[in-house]
Amino acid sequence: MRGFSPRISALRESPTRKIDELRERLRKENRDVILLSTGQPSVPPPREVRETLAELLKIDSMELYGYTPSQGILEARQAISEDLKRVGGLDVPPEQIVLTAGGQAAMFSTLATLIEPGDEVVIMDPTYFGYRPLLEYFGAVIKRVVTRLEDGFQPDPETLKSVVSRKTKAVILVSPDNPTGRTLSTEAAKAVVDLAKEYDFWIITDEAYKTLIYEGEHVYFYKLAPERTISINTFSKDPAIPGWRLGYVYGPPEVIPKIKLMNEEMVYCPPSFAQRLAAIYLRSEARMRYIKEVVEVYRQKRDVAISALRRYIPEARFVTPSGSMFIFVDLARYVQDGESFARELLERYNVAVVPGSYFSDVYKAAVRISFVTETPQRIEEGIRRIGEAVGAR
Ligand SMILES: Cc1ncc(COP(=O)(O)O)c(C=O)c1O
Repeated sequence: MRGFSPRISALRESPTRKIDELRERLRKENRDVILLSTGQPSVPPPREVRETLAELLKIDSMELYGYTPSQGILEARQAISEDLKRVGGLDVPPEQIVLTAGGQAAMFSTLATLIEPGDEVVIMDPTYFGYRPLLEYFGAVIKRVVTRLEDGFQPDPETLKSVVSRKTKAVILVSPDNPTGRTLSTEAAKAVVDLAKEYDFWIITDEAYKTLIYEGEHVYFYKLAPERTISINTFSKDPAIPGWRLGYVYGPPEVIPKIKLMNEEMVYCPPSFAQRLAAIYLRSEARMRYIKEVVEVYRQKRDVAISALRRYIPEARFVTPSGSMFIFVDLARYVQDGESFARELLERYNVAVVPGSYFSDVYKAAVRISFVTETPQRIEEGIRRIGEAVGAR
C-alpha cells in the first residue's frame, strides 16, 4: 500500500519553505533586493579563529573529516560548559550538553524526545515560526498565549495561568525573541517557573540570541529551575556560522542522553569541522571581544532602523528590540494583510520582509524586519520604501 504518513502534511506549508522559494527566485532573477527578511548575520567569525581552523585543515589527518561521537566532541562540550559559566554564570557539565546539527535539529530532537500525540504545548503568539510545524508533526495540541505590543510582548502571568493545566507537557519561550526582539522580564520568567512547578511541565527555553542583548540582561531559566529546563541553542548567530549547522541542547541529566539518541538516529553526528570551530572560538581570546563588537554593529543598525521607522512610517507600532535581530512592526494603521503587503513590497519596491502571519494568528498586519543583514544605508532605504509602499507620507 503506497502512501505517506499523514503527519508529513504538517510540514508542507512551512514558512521556511516559502522563504527558500523566495531566495531561489531572487537568485534566478538577479534583482537587487534589500533583504530585511532573514536573520542572516553580517559579521563573520573572528579572523584568528578562522585562521586557526585553516591551519588544522592543512594537517594530513582524518581529524576534521571523520565521524565524531554523536553527543559531540568533548572539547566542544567542555568549551560550551565554560562559556555558559562565563556568559551566564551557569554550572552545566559537558555530560549535560549535546551538540546538534543547528538549532533546528536541537528543536526537532527535543520535541521528538518529549512529545506524545495529544500533549498540550504552550507557545507565545507571536513566536518563532519554526515551532508550529514541528509541534503539529508530533501531534501536539498547541495552546497559544497572545502577548501584547502594549505590554512590550511580555507574557501576562494571568493569561499563562488560564491556559496551563495538568495536560501541559511544555511551555516554549524564546528570549531574546524572534520576531519581537523582547527579552523576557524576570517577573514573567518567575511566573512561568511557578506554574511549571505547580503543574509539573517542562520549560523549553530557546536561547538562540542569548548573547545578542542591547539593553538589560538575559534571564536563564536554568538558574531558576534546572530540573525542568531544556535549553535550545545555536552557533548560527554567535559566531555567525548558520550554513555550518551547529547548535546544542543543555538540560537535566536524564534528558540529554535521550536527545542524544534521537540526534544519533537523525544525523549520527553534527558536522565535525563546525564543532572544531566552536571549540576554538569559545576558548579564544577573541570570544568576548567579538561578541561585544558584533552587538555594537547590530545596535547601530537597530538604531538606524528605529529612527527610519519613526521618520518614514510614523504610525507604525513596534517595541524597540532589546535583543535578537528583529523588529516586529505592526502596520495595522496602514495595511490589512501583511502577507499581501509583503508580496507587493517585494514585487514593486524590491524590499523583502517576513509577514506577521508567519509568527502570529493575531498580528496579521505586521511584518518582521531584520536589521542585521544589510548596511545601515540600505536598511534606511528599505524602510523608506516601506513607508512609500504604505502611503505613509
Ligand atoms: C529563535 C530561533 N530558534 C532556533 C533557530 C534555528 O537556528 P539554526 O539556524 O541553528 O537552525 C532560529 C533561527 O533563526 C531562531 O531564530
